[in-house]
Amino acid sequence: MIIEVLTLFPEMFPGPLAAGVTGRGLASGLVTLRVLNLRDYTHDRHRQVDDVPYGGGAGMVLKPEPIFEAVRARAGKGPVILLTPQGELLNQRLVRELASHDDLYLICGRYEGVDERVAAHLVDREISIGDYVLTGGELPAMVLIDAVSRLVAGVLGSEESPKDESFDQHLLEYPHYTRPAEFEGHPVPEVLRSGHHAEIERWRRAQAAERTRRRRPDLLDHRG
Ligand code: ADE
Repeated sequence: MIIEVLTLFPEMFPGPLAAGVTGRGLASGLVTLRVLNLRDYTHDRHRQVDDVPYGGGAGMVLKPEPIFEAVRARAGKGPVILLTPQGELLNQRLVRELASHDDLYLICGRYEGVDERVAAHLVDREISIGDYVLTGGELPAMVLIDAVSRLVAGVLGSEESPKDESFDQHLLEYPHYTRPAEFEGHPVPEVLRSGHHAEIERWRRAQAAERTRRRRPDLLDHRG
């Protein structure tokens, strides 16, 4: 998969994506990250990417021309995505859908906002990573890239297969334990040490259901 990222801060990439599983995905060539500097698509002496808002108000707004020019120069055919708190919320279903494309184009917003004509006439979708406001779309782009990369075939080892994981069945995961069998007076549940695979399976299913009901009842409402 090829992921292009348009940003005012190319030095932020690959950043944390260079470590661990995502780093392996990048090093192996299964995922290619191309980072594009928005300023390279300006043509004035000051390489200006933003301007004052029409109608007044605080802050600056990213100009449409460099963003349109950058996106129009791309080779890929996959979705063009603007990271913005105004977008649809990222979830595992959306991550799976994005992972099915050969390429993605991510635009990182900055300052007070992005000229609305970008959202209205250039991008295919606007995506938010949560109901909080960050200083820009770079960290959200990294979150999206991490979640998508691990679903690209071959990035996860067979031991780490993305089957049966949290959210695939609209459930949180059951609790995990490793050695020691007792830690500071807290034992590992007996059933997990019993060797009875059917009982362990039943216990895990019940734990996942109970945990979801208590912590995230909203997930149970969205089944189907
Ligand atoms: N840019 C600023 N905050 C954001 C968020 N929560 N999601 C996506 N892009 C953003």
